Amino acid sequence: MEACQCEAKWEELDKIIAAHRGRPSDLIEVLHKAQELIGYLPRQVQVAIAEGLGVSLAEVYSVISFYHHFTVKPKGKYQISVCKGTACYVKGSPEILERLEKELGIKAGDSTEDGKFSLEVVRCLGACGLGPVMTVNKRAHGLLKPETAVEVLKQYQ
Ligand code: FES
Repeated sequence: MEACQCEAKWEELDKIIAAHRGRPSDLIEVLHKAQELIGYLPRQVQVAIAEGLGVSLAEVYSVISFYHHFTVKPKGKYQISVCKGTACYVKGSPEILERLEKELGIKAGDSTEDGKFSLEVVRCLGACGLGPVMTVNKRAHGLLKPETAVEVLKQYQ
């Protein structure tokens, strides 16, 4: 597989697709499994799934775009998720995100060139009382200010 450079993963993906062949209603389930296997959903994988399930590529892409969980880009070693749910938003999460984007030199949805960090926006992490909140590889950091968010980042650099 060019996308993930791994023959074994292509084989595994083929098996997943084969188990759902010709079943368009299984699209979300197959996308979940493919992302679990590869880590993200590059175009080659989308094409293989579309062909296997008998749906259009546009349909695959629209599902991927609709569900925040899916990503078409590889994630970084450290995945930073900044909460922009209502409680965090009103407590200043836009400023946190802006500061992290500046510090990392990337926009939300992207990864740093060295593959170390990726940045994304999420909706409510379930810790509203600690807002604004971000997680780094699922570890939560709360009551953030732009400067403390940068301090957190430094722990991982
Ligand atoms: S709104 Fe951010 S944790 Fe709930």
